[in-house]
Amino acid sequence: MTDVHDIPFITISYNSAELIEKLISSIRNFYTNKIYIIDGSEKGPKEEIKQLVDKQLNAEFISFDYNIHHGPGMAWAIKNLPHSGQALFLDSDMEIIHGGFLERMHEVLGQESYGVGRINKVNREGFDVHTKNNAENVDYLHPALMLCNLEVMRKWPLPIKHGAPMIDAMLGLHDSNNSHLLKHLQWVDEDVVGLAKPNYVLHLGRGTVIRTGGYHLDEWMNSLSEKQSNTNGENLVMKDYQFTNKWFDGAARANWDILIPQIQPKKLLEIGSYEGASACYLIDTLASQHDIELHCIDTWSGGIEHQEGGTAETNMHAVEDRFHANMSVALSNKDKRIDLKIHKGASDKVLSKLIAEGKDNYFDFVYIDGSHQAPDVLTDAVLGFKLLKVGGVMAFDDYLWAEKPVTDRSLLECPKPAIDSFLNIYFNKMSVISAPLYQIYAQKTSN
Ligand SMILES: C[S@@+](CC[C@H](N)C(=O)[O-])C[C@H]1O[C@@H](n2cnc3c(N)ncnc32)[C@H](O)[C@@H]1O
Repeated sequence: MTDVHDIPFITISYNSAELIEKLISSIRNFYTNKIYIIDGSEKGPKEEIKQLVDKQLNAEFISFDYNIHHGPGMAWAIKNLPHSGQALFLDSDMEIIHGGFLERMHEVLGQESYGVGRINKVNREGFDVHTKNNAENVDYLHPALMLCNLEVMRKWPLPIKHGAPMIDAMLGLHDSNNSHLLKHLQWVDEDVVGLAKPNYVLHLGRGTVIRTGGYHLDEWMNSLSEKQSNTNGENLVMKDYQFTNKWFDGAARANWDILIPQIQPKKLLEIGSYEGASACYLIDTLASQHDIELHCIDTWSGGIEHQEGGTAETNMHAVEDRFHANMSVALSNKDKRIDLKIHKGASDKVLSKLIAEGKDNYFDFVYIDGSHQAPDVLTDAVLGFKLLKVGGVMAFDDYLWAEKPVTDRSLLECPKPAIDSFLNIYFNKMSVISAPLYQIYAQKTSN
């Protein structure tokens, strides 16, 4: 039986000396256990991290000359470290704020189990899913903070380079009916997700923040774009929906798969609906769980880019028809009540009307994906802020969108300056959540 003091702490690091310093010093406030830093940083940060680790007693720096990535780094540790009992894996952006957590995990793990930590349901590709009691769903042990038995881990597929690096091991357990070897702890769930006050561990990259599933978003984005390139040209009609583009799949879906279940929004506001891809997603994801009220605002006359002579000239009447057809599909066969409010009109007017009706501090989620002109985006953000509850999340699409190449671009014809200005001005009222840069998410922290 492993003694708690013999459990090694294992972290995979890449380019962030500051995080590693915080992590190690916070561990040392409570534990003298061996610490392994498996590092694939670039030259400069690598040297800094090495010096930090070398200063510590009972800590070892294991260096790779390339970014080893989270999954392969863990796999290397599982195969090669000279340990055979339990090992604690934790993300490099963790800070321990109270001792006693390792003991609590150790008590639960036992000798036969694979690991203990946060377990959630994913599909076979590692993306979060929310339909309960579906035998296809796979229990996924989140590697951000997990205590595992190394011998048991060695019997199953090792972590891989993937946004959900534990996926192969989890599929192995699932397919052989061994998911009971995984143990869930509610406080780990809370600390890893980082939406509530931390119990033992502050998840810095996430603070007040969403879990990213894989933590290495480049890996998520790579696997996502691989997936997309494999399906390019395929029929875009899914589940009887009629969509003529993949904007939502390209920029939002992977983030929303993670974000939306965490915040479980009940009152939602979308500015810019087009054919309804994002709205259908929200209905499909949420309306099996609880009642929702969804407000969709659109002029259905398109942005400048959709109008005659624009870069994406489009028949907006057909778009509007498809929006209504898609909504009918989304609304059918849902267990829960969906209060869908369609507001056809310019967002500044509709948003002002909603404020005038007393819906300030009302919405849990505000999605800004309407006009891409900076003054309009700024107006949507400022009015949307009024409508957003404290604790609610505002999401901006197209942070990096611009209609023209960089050399011809006008500063005010794209969303970025507006999003930057808004977040600067609301600096102490909105906390930005880390996510791939194409979209920006921020949580309201006060009025
Ligand atoms: C990028 S699309 C929205 C995409 C949609 N969210 C999706 O996931 O498929 C932008 C939409 O914003 C609408 N729009 C542009 N300017 C607007 C404004 N000032 N007020 C309301 N809607 C606007 C356009 O008509 C267009 O349908």
